[in-house]
Amino acid sequence: MITKEQVVDLLHPLQDPHLHRTLEETDGIEEIKIKEEKNHVSVKIAIAQPNTAEQMQFQQEIVNVLKGAGVATVGLRFNQLSDEILQQYAGASEESESLLEGNTGTTFIGIASGKGGVGKSTVTVNLATSLARLGKKVGIIDADIYGFSVPDMMGIEERPVVRGEQIIPVERFGVKVISMGFFVEDNSPIIWRGPMLGKMLTSFFKEVEWGDLDYLLIDLPPGTGDVALDLHSMLPSCKEVIVTTPHPTAAFVAARAGQMAIKTEHEILGVIENMAYFQSALTGQKEFVFGQGGGPKLAEQLQTEVLGQLPLQQPYEEEDIFAPGVYQADHPTGKIFLSIANKMIKKMS
Ligand SMILES: Nc1ncnc2c1ncn2[C@@H]1O[C@H](COP(=O)(O)OP(=O)(O)OP(=O)(O)O)[C@@H](O)[C@H]1O
Ligand SMILES: [Mg+2]
Repeated sequence: MITKEQVVDLLHPLQDPHLHRTLEETDGIEEIKIKEEKNHVSVKIAIAQPNTAEQMQFQQEIVNVLKGAGVATVGLRFNQLSDEILQQYAGASEESESLLEGNTGTTFIGIASGKGGVGKSTVTVNLATSLARLGKKVGIIDADIYGFSVPDMMGIEERPVVRGEQIIPVERFGVKVISMGFFVEDNSPIIWRGPMLGKMLTSFFKEVEWGDLDYLLIDLPPGTGDVALDLHSMLPSCKEVIVTTPHPTAAFVAARAGQMAIKTEHEILGVIENMAYFQSALTGQKEFVFGQGGGPKLAEQLQTEVLGQLPLQQPYEEEDIFAPGVYQADHPTGKIFLSIANKMIKKMS
C-alpha cells in the first residue's frame, strides 16, 4: 500500500496551473488521507485559482499520477493558497507574461485612488493627452468596467473596428482608447467574444491591437477591489499614480490603494492632488475649498513625491472640438498636466 511519503513525492513535482510553481514550492499539499482497506487516497490541495478550467485539468493530472502508482480511487478537494504564498509568486503567472508579450517597450501606468470621484479618469485622460502632446505613443485602458467614463470625457463617438481576431482601439488626440463603454451601448454593440467581465481586462490587453506604445495608462475603478487586484497580479511591473483630494481623510483612504501597490511591488511614481484649490479669476486668490495637506501627507506616507496639484476648474468650452474632460494645451490646468507628464517621463527613463 502507498504511504503518505510516497504520495508527497509523487505530487510535489506537479505544477500549480497558474503560478507554474511546483506544489513543493507553493507548499500546496494541505492534507493526505489513506484508507488502506479500500486502496483509497484523498488529498487536499491548495492552488492559486480554484474552480477554474485549469483546476479540472490539474485534477485529472493528480488522479493519473496516483492511479499510475497503483491507487484504486482518489478523492480530491481544492483550496486557495494563502495570500502570503500568492503574493510571493504574484506576477509569475502565465498570464502576466503573455500580456506583456510583444509589448515589452511599453510602460504600464495604473491610475488609482482610494475612493471614487476624486478625478482618476480626469487625470488619466489628461495625462495621456499630455504625454501624446509631448510626442509619446500612448494608450488608455478604461478598466472601470461598470463606471466607464473615458469615452465621454474625451468626446469619443466612434466605435472600435474589429479586424479578424483583433479590436482596433479608437484614437483621439493621438491617444488610443479602449473602454467597456464601447461595447455596451445600444446603438452599435459589438459582441465580445469569450466570457464577459471577469476576462474583460485580459481581453483589453490581449485582443486589442495596441501597436507600438510608449505608455499604456490604466484608469482603475475606485478602491482596492477585484479589478485592481487583477491588475496587480497581471502586471507585475506596472507603475502607479495615486490620485487624492487635499482633505487629510481622503489621503488616509488613498493610502490603502498605495499600500496595495507597495505590497505588490509596483513602483509608485507619485501622488497627484486634485481639486487642490479654487483660484479666483478676479483676484487670483487661492481658496482651499476641500482642505489642505492631503497630497503631501499621502506622498510622505508612501515615500514618494507630489507630482502636481490641480485646481478646481473646468476645461474651456469649445464649439468645434467636443471633449468635456480634456484640458487644452494652453489652459492653466493643461499646462500643469504637461509639467506632470514631463516629470513622469524623466522619472521613468
Ligand atoms: N480639477 C477639477 N476641477 C473641476 N472639476 C473636476 C476636476 N477634477 C475632476 N472634476 C470633475 O469631477 C468629476 C469626477 O471626476 P472623475 O470622473 O475624473 O473622477 P473619478 O475618480 O474617475 O471618479 P470615479 O470614481 O467615479 O471613476 C467629473 O465630473 C470631473 O469632470
Ligand atoms: Mg473614473
